[in-house]
Amino acid sequence: MTPARDPVRDKAARAWRFRCGVEQEAHLRFARLARWLGECGFARPLVDLALRASSDESRHAIRCAELSLQYGATAPDPLTTAPAPLAPAGLPSRAAVLYEVVAACCVTETGSFGVLTTLLGLVRGGPLRRILRELAADEVQHSRLGWAALSSERDRGTTSLLAPFVPAMLEGSIDAGLFQPGTPEEEDGALLELGVLPHSLKREVFTRTTLDVVLPGLSAAGVDPGPARLWLAGKMRGLAP
Ligand SMILES: [Fe+2]
Ligand SMILES: [Fe+2]
Repeated sequence: MTPARDPVRDKAARAWRFRCGVEQEAHLRFARLARWLGECGFARPLVDLALRASSDESRHAIRCAELSLQYGATAPDPLTTAPAPLAPAGLPSRAAVLYEVVAACCVTETGSFGVLTTLLGLVRGGPLRRILRELAADEVQHSRLGWAALSSERDRGTTSLLAPFVPAMLEGSIDAGLFQPGTPEEEDGALLELGVLPHSLKREVFTRTTLDVVLPGLSAAGVDPGPARLWLAGKMRGLAP
């Protein structure tokens, strides 16, 4: 007789499989970003940080694939082509690179760090905690690459041009259904011990990280947080019963 499937474990397996794909994508994105930063004349330490991040993400993909397998899913096939650039077409090349580094690092990596530190505050299992700690220690460095690049551009006056794009960056960093009610399966607290945030907590962490870290950081670098605040308020209104 085949053992009954555990829906929470299945959900966690899918989440870590998805995360593996995200890490594979980030590996290729950072390798390309390193090249772009060099071509646009950004400081060498920023290029080196991007190269290091690319290598970290490759290791993260392996960790996520291992967890996915442990919980019963297969690992995704390795990616071979870099993901589409994040910036909309038509921006001058330096602005497009700044967009990419801000969206990938200041927004997405800061968001990942928020998720990982929340999990570290709640997960008790030792082996999983070791992986979460490893990922968090790297993701915070990846986030710093974005803040350093942004700060280096501040005096050029280019950072203020980013303000209307921040809502798209935030939207691109979340799942389509994050501001929709979660299913009972997505809200199951047992997901936590498998390293996955239940849906409402995930939304709460995203909102808190955006308001407490991302927008103040962008504002300090000369990016008006107004459009992003409006975007977030609209999302919260859509959620209200
Ligand atoms: Fe990662
Ligand atoms: Fe990362």
